[in-house]
Amino acid sequence: MEKRGSLIRQFREKENGPIHIARDLIGTVYDDLEKHQGLLGPGEVWDLPARFSADPEKVENLTFDDMLPLWVGGSARRELTAEVLEHYSRFLREIDHLRLLAPFLDAEIGGQYTRMITDLGTVIDVNLITRYLKHSEGDHIYILELGGGYGRLAEAFLGIFENQAKYVMLDAVPESLVYAYLYLSRNFPDRRIGFYYSGHDFDFVTYDCYIVPTWRFEELNRYTFDVAININSMQEMKQEQIDYYLSLFDRVTKLGGEIYVSNSRDYYQKEFRYPKRWRLLFKQNTPRSWTPHDPIEVFQKAERDYDRENLDIETQYLRELCAAYERDYQEKRKIIHEMQSWNRKLSEGNIAAQARIRELEKWRGAQAGTIYLMKAVVEFSRRQFKRMRHISIESMKK
Ligand SMILES: C[S@@+](CC[C@H](N)C(=O)[O-])C[C@H]1O[C@@H](n2cnc3c(N)ncnc32)[C@H](O)[C@@H]1O
Repeated sequence: MEKRGSLIRQFREKENGPIHIARDLIGTVYDDLEKHQGLLGPGEVWDLPARFSADPEKVENLTFDDMLPLWVGGSARRELTAEVLEHYSRFLREIDHLRLLAPFLDAEIGGQYTRMITDLGTVIDVNLITRYLKHSEGDHIYILELGGGYGRLAEAFLGIFENQAKYVMLDAVPESLVYAYLYLSRNFPDRRIGFYYSGHDFDFVTYDCYIVPTWRFEELNRYTFDVAININSMQEMKQEQIDYYLSLFDRVTKLGGEIYVSNSRDYYQKEFRYPKRWRLLFKQNTPRSWTPHDPIEVFQKAERDYDRENLDIETQYLRELCAAYERDYQEKRKIIHEMQSWNRKLSEGNIAAQARIRELEKWRGAQAGTIYLMKAVVEFSRRQFKRMRHISIESMKK
């Protein structure tokens, strides 16, 4: 794919005024969801009246800023600091073939924009997705994203690759669907953004980007895609939904096409049963990983079974994962010991200890957290070794 435009065109509410959410449009989506969602509706995490129960009026008037922590996470929406930039840069320097990082390092250009930490996640995603992308047919590249939030990545692809990108966003949360449409329409006034609930047809001749609810996608879709993407979204879904979407990705991705998945595995503990014919090209934690087991995985849809070859990358990842848990465990042990020692001082009458204990209080769950994470890695390794054994027995039979 050829870089034509830039990433630095992000619309930010702060600078451009609020997006006015169309309540009647949201109502239409909720009506359709209630009648037709079937298996594919959003889970409890996205029960917005429950989330905002302390302020019931709020849920009627959710702003883009209210939704942002749900889409990108509380810490990722924070403004970029030099320290975070350095942390991401170490990883990005190796993979930034599109040179998207440079403007972030330029204080003068950067000064005009409010940059969030999540924008560096976008730099990772766009670089890694395009590094493995193979497309041959004509000028267009067909991209499918499930659970794309407000359009963080769609915005990057439409901005950087201009009219090369043909982008579909699938979602099940009415607020995400409507905001993605309003956000992208406002940010790209000269581009054609289509929306199922505005009566637009799902047609890439007319539209560059099309936003559609998950439960309507299969009946409307007649395209195959160069890449299928899911970032921080399947992790929140029910197991049968993850199974369904992995098989959907397999059906609608072109042969030789790419599948890009980035989800936390230890926090949510879901099974990702990837088709055996997906060849694993990349699996690593990245600076965006918010738990030790939160990798980006890149696959290529192949013609034959790649389960055996995939184990090489899986095993390497497993080694790194064990080391990450070990580091995490040691760090938490240090905190626990320090807390114990301050508690002793406090019981001996050292009042000053109180302040330090309060500071360490935020790590209160550290011990429980560590045990929980250790369990996750043991379970993960057990499954992995079982798979390895199965594959070697199968290959011995041949
Ligand atoms: C945490 S946000 C991540 C947004 C985006 N991928 C990003 O990284 O900026 C999760 C996204 O998945 C969507 N989502 C949640 N549950 C879903 C479901 N069951 N089916 C489809 N989309 C879902 C949400 O509406 C939201 O867009």
